[in-house]
Amino acid sequence: MTEPKRLHVITWGCQMNVYDSGRMADVLAPLGYAPVSAPEDADMVILNTCHIRDRAAAKVFSELGRLRVMKEASGGKMILAVAGCVAQAEGAEILARAPYVDIVLGPQTYHRLPEMVALASRAGNQVIETDFPAEDKFDHLPESQTPQGVTAFLTIQEGCDKFCSFCVVPYTRGAEQSRSAATIVREARHLVSQGTREITLLGQNVNAWHGDGTDGMTWGLGRLLRELSDIPDLLRLRYTTSHPRDMSDDLIAAHRDLPAVMPYLHLPVQSGSDRMLAAMNRKHTADDFRRVIGKLRDARPDMALSSDFIVGHPGETEADFEATMALIREVNFAMAYSFKYSQRPGTPAAGAPAQVPESEKDRRLQALQGLLREQQVGFNDSCVGLDLPVLITGPGRHPGQIGGRSPFLQAVHLSGSTDLIGTELMVRIVENYPNSLAGTLVQERRIA
Ligand code: SAH
Ligand code: SF4
Ligand code: F3S
Repeated sequence: MTEPKRLHVITWGCQMNVYDSGRMADVLAPLGYAPVSAPEDADMVILNTCHIRDRAAAKVFSELGRLRVMKEASGGKMILAVAGCVAQAEGAEILARAPYVDIVLGPQTYHRLPEMVALASRAGNQVIETDFPAEDKFDHLPESQTPQGVTAFLTIQEGCDKFCSFCVVPYTRGAEQSRSAATIVREARHLVSQGTREITLLGQNVNAWHGDGTDGMTWGLGRLLRELSDIPDLLRLRYTTSHPRDMSDDLIAAHRDLPAVMPYLHLPVQSGSDRMLAAMNRKHTADDFRRVIGKLRDARPDMALSSDFIVGHPGETEADFEATMALIREVNFAMAYSFKYSQRPGTPAAGAPAQVPESEKDRRLQALQGLLREQQVGFNDSCVGLDLPVLITGPGRHPGQIGGRSPFLQAVHLSGSTDLIGTELMVRIVENYPNSLAGTLVQERRIA
């Protein structure tokens, strides 16, 4: 018999970290660990970290200081683990500066957590696992016992070989690796059996996925989507994050042919200036991006687009910035994320001479975000009066309300019974709030 123990996981960073945190909980479940919502009560706390922008390490040390107090209050019994991309990049420094940390583990090693916990449980042991092991961690993970919910993440690809000038991911997550179609389909079916109706396939470069197919051939993401769309009761498919260079015609055709593939795509472009795109090592031009968008809109005229932008990359001039603004005006984004360039240790751009002054980055970011906000409000406004299929994901904020997502990833709330959770309903959008849309039920389209 394993003794019941309490696990608290703190997750920072991207959706892949959210997925990883869930899988770490799965790996620890056979040891008796069950999730709790507060770190104070936990026998073990995992801090799953992100290294993508500024002050990542400082933030980790400040959180560790807080957790140290709790560990001391537990008489030193609490096991403290640091996982994720800061652990991968700065593991040794974490152990040296925070000797009360028991375990440091990189993103590729979490299937080995049980052994690490056993080692760390012997007093005074510190464990560090930041190799990129030869075995595939996905082959060593148990099936998830805790349902993710109506919407779920499924990692199909990890790592990145693209080496954009500014980015730490190729160093923290390692080389690009694709899981086989068979294991992905098995996990998708399992999620659906637990009530999931929408799956978002995850990868740092998800559309570069090229895995072993079930027919002995190598498949691309378009083919994988076709396979997944045959799973009964799996109503919706999404994938993120994509790179413009890997938007193949077959993948674009999947948007045209498969109703389950949602008409919404997050496609980071970073800049609209060819000079900057070259400096960023993105290996495509602004026109290449325009062409991809054109093809996507031909395939799905209702396609909504989202993107990521960086302002103030080394060497960026006012003219380069204006080229980005022009591209945004032309494409018209439904949503977007934008960032000031942040120097990351060990990346090529960090040492570049022509760093842009902070005040200039601030000014450009404000202008860019103003434009993107206008476009987002405009897009949401354009949805008012439309009937949209909404996947109901849970209760709404107020009693008698339920909430869900539109095909374009907007939050929608409406009056309705919680019995409808997990169904897709036709909803008339009646109002646009800053962070959500309000609707009324038009027609119930329950699934079998
Ligand atoms: N794999 C994805 C995104 C990874 S990181 C892709 O290829 O696009 C998510 C976003 O963070 C990036 O798209 C980029 O806009 C931003 N980002 C990454 N490194 C950054 C840095 N050093 N400074 C500012 N923003 C950065
Ligand atoms: Fe980073 Fe570029 Fe790879 Fe995206 S494609 S993870 S931005 S290196
Ligand atoms: Fe952050 Fe690592 Fe994701 S650096 S964005 S947690 S891949």
